[in-house]
Amino acid sequence: MAESTSDSLRPALADGVVPESVVARTEKRWFMLMAAMLAVMMVVVVVTGVVGALHPASNVEVVDPLTLHLEGEFVESNLGTAIEMDGSATVRIVALQYDFVPSCVQVPVNAPVRFRLTSADVIHGFLLPDTNVNTMVVPGFVSEVRTRFARTGEYEMPCNEFCGLGHHGMWTRVRVVPAEALSTKSPLERSRCAR
Ligand code: CUA
Repeated sequence: MAESTSDSLRPALADGVVPESVVARTEKRWFMLMAAMLAVMMVVVVVTGVVGALHPASNVEVVDPLTLHLEGEFVESNLGTAIEMDGSATVRIVALQYDFVPSCVQVPVNAPVRFRLTSADVIHGFLLPDTNVNTMVVPGFVSEVRTRFARTGEYEMPCNEFCGLGHHGMWTRVRVVPAEALSTKSPLERSRCAR
């Protein structure tokens, strides 16, 4: 009753002005439509994530970050550069707050190079400027990047993902050297140039 009384007290709307009740109804419909679209998108994200087993883009290999130092590919003695039978190089690096292990690696020039990285704690970033090497290093996963260096030289590689208070001090070096200058000669040897 109160409503109709106040309505009757209002001056008549000018031509072309939409009554408040119509505006409210339209807004409510649009709101419901948006909420429904949002719900559909959330369902799509969850369903594709679970059904497609989506993982970080670079790789789907998993590794237990708690036992990296005890067993498997990333034990300390296996880190650094290995030269495979075909002359390509495989470089294994562990990133952890706040260092890369090893903190300097050598790779051969003009040969396929495969970086395999993982993290022992939080997400770090590995990026070599002007190359295709740019990956997040996520705990629990192995990030693999394949590349080839056309020139010798040295890359100074700061951690590329904010990982905590010591992030700015987290660096590694990648030295690109002629194959004959590498101290590593066999798939069983590992080399690093860290002091
Ligand atoms: Cu590690 Cu930033």
